[in-house]
Amino acid sequence: MNTVHVTASRNYDVLIGAGLLSSLGIHAAAIKKANKVCIVSESTVWPIYGNMAKKSLLDAGLKTVGFVFPAGEASKNAAVYLDLLNFLAENQMTRTDLIVALGGGVVGDLAGFAAATYLRGIPFIQVPTTLLAAVDSSVGGKTAIDLPTGKNLVGAFYQPSLVLCDTDCLNTLPLDIFRDGCAEVIKYGVLYDPTLFAHLAEKGLEFDREYVITRCVALKRDVVAEDEFDIGARMKLNLGHTIGHGVEMQSHFEISHGKAVAVGMAIVSRAGVAYGICDQNAKDAVLQILERFGLPYSCEFSAESLYLSALSDKKRSGGMVNLIIPERIGCCRIVPTPVEEIQSFIEAGL
Ligand code: NAD
Ligand code: GLY
Repeated sequence: MNTVHVTASRNYDVLIGAGLLSSLGIHAAAIKKANKVCIVSESTVWPIYGNMAKKSLLDAGLKTVGFVFPAGEASKNAAVYLDLLNFLAENQMTRTDLIVALGGGVVGDLAGFAAATYLRGIPFIQVPTTLLAAVDSSVGGKTAIDLPTGKNLVGAFYQPSLVLCDTDCLNTLPLDIFRDGCAEVIKYGVLYDPTLFAHLAEKGLEFDREYVITRCVALKRDVVAEDEFDIGARMKLNLGHTIGHGVEMQSHFEISHGKAVAVGMAIVSRAGVAYGICDQNAKDAVLQILERFGLPYSCEFSAESLYLSALSDKKRSGGMVNLIIPERIGCCRIVPTPVEEIQSFIEAGL
C-alpha cells in the first residue's frame, strides 16, 4: 500500500493499494468518533462492492445506512442531491457521523457536495472505483452537481477526511471506461512527469496501477497544495479540456469525456507546434501514446463549431480563454488567448 498525504484546508491521506476496501471500517473508525456511516453509491457499483464496504464498517463497530441512486451522470442533479439530504436527516445523521462515497466521479461529486452542505459540513471518505476518480475527482476537494444548463455549476470546495483507493476495484471496470480514465493519466505525464509518461508509453493499458495512481495523486496533491481554490496553477489540469468540452458538445456527448480530452490534447499539441510553442517530438509522442491506448486524436468537427462550444466553457474569463499548451513532455504553459483567436488556433490543430 502507498500513502500520499494531502495538505490543504483539511489535511488527509490517500491510501492506494490492492484489497484496501476490506479495511475501510478500520480506517473509518480511526478518523472520527463516528457512530453511523451513510454509504452513498449507485446502481452498478453497489451490487459489486456494497456488501464488502458494509461488512467492513459493521465489523469495525459502526452502524451503516445506504443511499443508492441510478448510475450515470444524469443522476448528478439537484433532485437526487435533495433526496440524499433528506435521507441523511431522516436517519438522524449528526456532524460526528460520516459519509462514504463508494463509486466513480459521479458518486464522489454528489456525495461530497452533500457532505459539504448537510449540517454545514460533515466528514466524508472517498472510495473511488473508477480510474478517473482514483487519479482525479476523489482528490482535491471539488464537489458538485449539474444543472440543466451545464455540468458542475453548483458545488463547493470541500476536502474529504480520507481517500481509500482499492486498485482491485478497477478489475470490474469495462475496458472503455478504464480507457477514458487513461486519458487523464496520460494528461499528468504530459503536464508534469516524463518518467510517468515513459512508463505509460512502454506499458500501454498494462501499466503498473499502484505506481501510476500513486504518482498521479502525488502530482495532484502538489497542485492542490499550491492552488486549492483553482485561481492559478490548478488550471493546468484543464489540459485538453476546453477544446475537449467542445468535442463532447459537438458529439452530443456520444464521445465520452476521456476520449474528448484525448482529442483536445492532440489538437493543442498540433496547434502548439504550429504556433512555435510545442516541440515537434513532444507532439509526436502525444499522438503515439494516444494511439497506443486506443484513444482518438482527431475529430470530424469544424474549428468554428469547436470554437463556439469552447466559448460556452465556464473556464472563459472575460475576453480571454486560458489554453494549456505542451512545450515538451512534462512541461506545459498556460497561454491566455483572446477569444477571437481561438478558432484559428483550433484550425491549426485539427
Ligand atoms: P461515473 O462515476 O459515472 O463512472 C463511470 C461508469 O463506471 C458508470 O457507469 C459506473 O456505474 C461505472 N463504474 C464505476 N465503478 C465501477 C467499477 N469498479 N466496476 C464497474 N463499473 C463501475 O464516471 P467517472 O468517469 O468516474 O466520473 C465522471 C464524473 O466525475 C463527472 O461527473 C465529472 O464531472 C466528475 N469529475 C470531477 C472531478 C473533481 O475534481 N471533482 C474531476 C474530474 C471529473
Ligand atoms: N479536475 C480538475 C481539478 O481538480 O481541478
